[in-house]
Amino acid sequence: MLATDSGKARIERPGEPPPDLAGRAGIVPDLMGSERDPGPPRVLSGIQPSGDFHLGNYIGAVRHWVADQDRNDCFYLIVDLHAITLPQNPQELRARTVELATILLAAGIDPERSTLFVQSHVHEHAELAWVLQCVATLGELRRMTQFKEKTAKGQESSSSAGLFTYPVLQAADILLYRTDKVPVGEDQRQHVELTRDIAQRFNRRFGDTFVLPEATVPPVGAKIMDLQNPGAKMSKSSESPQGTIAILDPPEDLARKVRTAVTDSGREVIAREDKPAITNLLTIHSIISGQPVDALEERYAGSGYAQFKSDLADELVAFLEPFQRRYHDLRDDPGEIARLLGIGAEKARAVASEMLALAYDRVGLLPMGKA
Ligand code: TYM
Repeated sequence: MLATDSGKARIERPGEPPPDLAGRAGIVPDLMGSERDPGPPRVLSGIQPSGDFHLGNYIGAVRHWVADQDRNDCFYLIVDLHAITLPQNPQELRARTVELATILLAAGIDPERSTLFVQSHVHEHAELAWVLQCVATLGELRRMTQFKEKTAKGQESSSSAGLFTYPVLQAADILLYRTDKVPVGEDQRQHVELTRDIAQRFNRRFGDTFVLPEATVPPVGAKIMDLQNPGAKMSKSSESPQGTIAILDPPEDLARKVRTAVTDSGREVIAREDKPAITNLLTIHSIISGQPVDALEERYAGSGYAQFKSDLADELVAFLEPFQRRYHDLRDDPGEIARLLGIGAEKARAVASEMLALAYDRVGLLPMGKA
């Protein structure tokens, strides 16, 4: 059975068409608004299939996605529509989408408990994004720091309009599923806040429709920094591949990247504001080894950076080894990955189609077949 264990009223039979709400009367029943039937909180998050999946993605987001499956009704999506806001190679995008699905499964996303799907397989995302673009304002989109970061200075006029409206598509991802919690790293907090603003404005204008989501940003590890440049976050598009730990990196690359990570002046292994490089490495060490930072500081008191980095390299290789093994096993069966993503898309569509019908209704779009 593919159903989540939430016990909520929900279409859980892949292959069965979603209810044709758009074909019903103009007014969709009230119970479909922001009131959800009680059940475990709904969690939703997404990740782009561009660049290499890295340790920051895992520590800041995906490890929490895995843990959230125990207590929540989870939806996780691979946001391929977001990935085309920057220039892409079509073949590579398709390959990366499959690779990312395989990585998420290997990392512990369980398709029996969570709904894992590809964004473009559920056309409602693009459709709700259009409606929300008519609610979001140019002013609030201009304030998005990610847009400012991704458009090199003076190049705004040649960047895609999609890059500018990107956060509205993200809002659609979240609002389509009556999401309560959005587990993300620090860099996505602003987009979730924008989602709340858009939802609130929509609800005020058209009546209670969307649930207001909350970002759940972990207290530790929400911003893992680049190993070569601890002033910048570890990123898929980083110009320093040596500073980014890709989680499919072979063991020798993992070890070399850690051993050659830049360090701060002095030789004390201690987490402190004036020691951003060592603080970052201590955070990583603590999360993958499960040892508190102060215990690590004590353990390495007086031993210097080299020993610390060498031990961290060994820890990291050992930590990623079982994950990489699972990844390679799963990769041998792409048919199974496609099957699982198909099931995920069916489950997602059953929820998304109801919400889109409600939103269309609320803004006054005429259902087909009515006059
Ligand atoms: P993306 O693909 O850039 O990143 C995926 C997740 O990884 C987190 N993350 C990090 N966490 C800690 N340290 C880092 N260095 C680091 N780098 C990335 C991100 O915060 C994110 O949680 N716009 C989103 C994808 C998205 C989405 C959504 C997220 C689309 N729709 C709906 C939540 C809900 C993005 O580009 O993430």
